Amino acid sequence: MSAGSEMEALVAQAKQAIGAVADLDALEALASELTGRKSLIAKANQELKDLPPGERPEAGRRIGQARAAINALFEARRGELMAAGEAERIRAERIDVSLPGPSVRIGHEHVISKTIGDLTEILVGMGYRVAEGNEVDTDYYNFEALNTPPGHPARSMQDTLYVESGRGEEVLLRTQTSGVQVHEMESCSPPLYMIAPGRVFRRDTLDPSHSPVFHQIEGLAVDSDLTLGDLAGTLKFFIREYFGGEREIKLRPSYFPFTEPSVEVSMSCFLCDGSGCRTCGHAGWIEVLGAGMVDPNVFGSVGYDSERWTGFAFGLGVERFAMLRYGIPDIRLLYENDQRFLSQF
Ligand code: DAH
Repeated sequence: MSAGSEMEALVAQAKQAIGAVADLDALEALASELTGRKSLIAKANQELKDLPPGERPEAGRRIGQARAAINALFEARRGELMAAGEAERIRAERIDVSLPGPSVRIGHEHVISKTIGDLTEILVGMGYRVAEGNEVDTDYYNFEALNTPPGHPARSMQDTLYVESGRGEEVLLRTQTSGVQVHEMESCSPPLYMIAPGRVFRRDTLDPSHSPVFHQIEGLAVDSDLTLGDLAGTLKFFIREYFGGEREIKLRPSYFPFTEPSVEVSMSCFLCDGSGCRTCGHAGWIEVLGAGMVDPNVFGSVGYDSERWTGFAFGLGVERFAMLRYGIPDIRLLYENDQRFLSQF
């Protein structure tokens, strides 16, 4: 075979081998094999000197051309492989900014806060303003000024947690929000329309329907000529706003030391509409709150003239309202802070 066709064959083989290489590392290995010191081209170059002098220039030129052709093939393939690698990298690193991100779980209002908010909103809409009270108070505000002096049998209705007894004053965790009535009447003169939402404490054991800590909303209206009819109308409107326009209410005589007369307020069952079901204990009615006309003795302890002013008060359990409204069977669910439960409201 002539040196010329030998070189042509070499270039053709190189072209095929180079075209078949799929990555840059393999390409460099092939380059040293085909053009390095031990390659056929290098060998042909070394053997030039063995040719007759007249053939050497022509053979040398052919070898040079073949080397240049092979180098050019390598260069072209190198460019191709680099471009392909770059395209692949760009494809792999591509970020679709229009994809939705991972969702972040955010907290939300607790069902007790929500219930306080909903009930407060209704009452504020009816003209009541919100008064703040203290969770730690004295025996005087929690009991005595509310016509419940020491030794009064009604004290046993609420098992009290005492904080300390000092400076002649008994300090306690309030058992009811009713004491806020007294604080407010001491600092404002009538007419007065106020509500007091807040936490109360009793020495009770946690069970499905009792908690040693729970929430109440107290209401107090003092004006001239308020009657039990005003109380009934107010509560009927309030209950209907919260539980629905079909609800009827019923007042039954009851006893609270600070109201006279006192009433227990029931509403027609919102599930069976009064025909009787499990929720209302087949009575058709559900007890929802306590209320009554402010006892003149309470006005006496805050210096209101009970000949001139009349008033009514009411107190409700927030947990009870929430449990009824949402069908929550156990009060403890409200305090366990299980996200699966809380996220439903
Ligand atoms: N303080 C009472 C309790 O905790 C609830 C209550 C009843 C409040 C009648 C009132 C009321 O203002 O008039 O059981």
